[in-house]
Amino acid sequence: IPIPVLTIDGPSGAGKGTVSRIVAKELGWHYLDSGSIYRSLAIALSQKEADLANVDQILSIAQAMDLAYECDDELIVKLNGEDITAQLGTETTGNVASIVAAIPEVRQVLLQKQKDFKKPPGLVADGRDMGTVVFPDADFKVFLTASAAKRAERRYKQLMEKGIDVNIHQITSEIESRDCRDKERLTAPLAQAEDALFIDSSAMTIDAVIAQVLSLVPQRL
Ligand code: C5P
Repeated sequence: IPIPVLTIDGPSGAGKGTVSRIVAKELGWHYLDSGSIYRSLAIALSQKEADLANVDQILSIAQAMDLAYECDDELIVKLNGEDITAQLGTETTGNVASIVAAIPEVRQVLLQKQKDFKKPPGLVADGRDMGTVVFPDADFKVFLTASAAKRAERRYKQLMEKGIDVNIHQITSEIESRDCRDKERLTAPLAQAEDALFIDSSAMTIDAVIAQVLSLVPQRL
């Protein structure tokens, strides 16, 4: 029996993570947060004090990464046995992730790690190239976006709730430069798959987005 895959791609702050998690739970499918793989690599690189210009060093660190996901109440990510969950969400981690994500060989090394998430009864995968590169044959594809201002505002609230003190202007400019890097890179740039449903969440509630995504999947698949 083929394993169904639902991909949700889009820029940071569009609500992909929240929507994907809830949709996966609703469907009873596995969930791949592909950004967390690039973020884990960013953390591994900083632990090893790697030189971001040294591709060979980055590749060997990427190859040696042993990632384990434990689902308690929250998702816990372990890198080589160490809990790195707290560092995963920081802006620095996201920025370094997006720098190394532009290196084609890095994407190649991380490709299989992502494909391995496809297991019965199904998978919801979120990222930038889930529907275009990693799971091009996915049964259901969504491209989820929102205005840059709205995304910055959401990200700001998220960080403040976590007790991380940030400046809205700085967040806006970081979001813009990360988007630009993700869209302009030559390998697997952020782009809407031809067969993806486009959703602009700027003026929508999370529940409305979830309902629209779920409406793609026929009942009782
Ligand atoms: O989605 P998240 O903000 O966690 O992703 C962090 C960075 O990882 C992105 O800015 C992007 O550069 C990279 N990424 C990617 N491909 C994916 C997921 C994330 O290049 N599928």
